[in-house]
Amino acid sequence: MSQPLDSSKVTIVPTGTPSAPIPNEKLRFGKQFTDHMLQVEWTAENGWDAPVIKPYGPFSIDPSCCVLHYAFELFEGMKAYWTVDDQISLFRPERNMSRMNKSAARICLPEFDTEELIKLIGLLLQQDKHLIPKGEGYSLYIRPTMIGTTNAIGVGAPDRALLFVICSPVGPYYKTGFKSVKLEATDYATRAWPGGVGDKKLGANYAPCIQPQLRAASKGYHQNLWLFGPEKYVTEVGTMNCFFVFENKTQNVKELVTAPLDGTILEGVTRDSILTLARARLDPTEWQISERYCSIFEVRERAQRGELLEVFGSGTAATVSPIEEIGFEGGSIPVPLSEGEQSGPLTKDIARWIMEIQYGKSKFQDWSRIVA
Ligand code: COI
Repeated sequence: MSQPLDSSKVTIVPTGTPSAPIPNEKLRFGKQFTDHMLQVEWTAENGWDAPVIKPYGPFSIDPSCCVLHYAFELFEGMKAYWTVDDQISLFRPERNMSRMNKSAARICLPEFDTEELIKLIGLLLQQDKHLIPKGEGYSLYIRPTMIGTTNAIGVGAPDRALLFVICSPVGPYYKTGFKSVKLEATDYATRAWPGGVGDKKLGANYAPCIQPQLRAASKGYHQNLWLFGPEKYVTEVGTMNCFFVFENKTQNVKELVTAPLDGTILEGVTRDSILTLARARLDPTEWQISERYCSIFEVRERAQRGELLEVFGSGTAATVSPIEEIGFEGGSIPVPLSEGEQSGPLTKDIARWIMEIQYGKSKFQDWSRIVA
């Protein structure tokens, strides 16, 4: 019988000596890891094996392993926070888990009981809780990952898989720290297309993005903003969803705009949280919240008319990142920032709303889940 993922079967193999916490100023995003990792094997024959939490370290795979040849790989990005009352919380983890299952289904990897994986992550965090950084903007980045591990060169659905979770203590994602970033709009390559897998968190979506990102970096930009189609719709940034704030002076309303979930856009947890909070907290007589197509030409024209107020990116790793400039066709679309600030006022409010929920300073629905 095919066994379900079962957290009660976990074996915990602790490290001998727990490592010392890394001071916040020495954290480098995703380069330092905690003492333990979670590992669970799956076979088509028997289902999920008993989970193991064990010392962090390499595992060996056969050179014929299908992940190395055909990219049977998917991942998630989540964060654990120390709340103000000294508990460890996850932010809307069920959203990451269900997205992980959708990614798995798309590339023929096994699905799992999402609540069981949340429990296992809680147990992993319990082992390494001394390594979760404290302080606003600091957290433990959690990377649940699944790979196909069938050893065969023939192309087909994997009959073996490995699910693992590693954790990295982190501060800001960008080297600029908590400051605004510059994007270059990319129209010579396409990140995702209708009917493709741009809305899935597959490793294969990320590798092809690096070359355009390097090209943008060579001109002084931090990331690139992907455009789509002849209309040059703004879609997302390689590691973030993207939001624009416009002012409609004739109607005296402001509009918060992000690209619609049409299958080409990653269904970001932070994206959804921003839309939900904006709809709940902004005055609807003053604000329109839109998931709609918006072209880079609209952004440029409205910037020229003084109607582009703010631009920011959102993601688990990058949180809410203000954007100060977009390079396009050799020119630059400047984005106003508030006097003496690194972001506009709405960006600042939204970043604070999210952070307050993550660190347990305020409550919104059941978004903050105490797990350890
Ligand atoms: C995240 O925001 O968690 C991501 O997965 C982006 C990443 C590729 C760093």
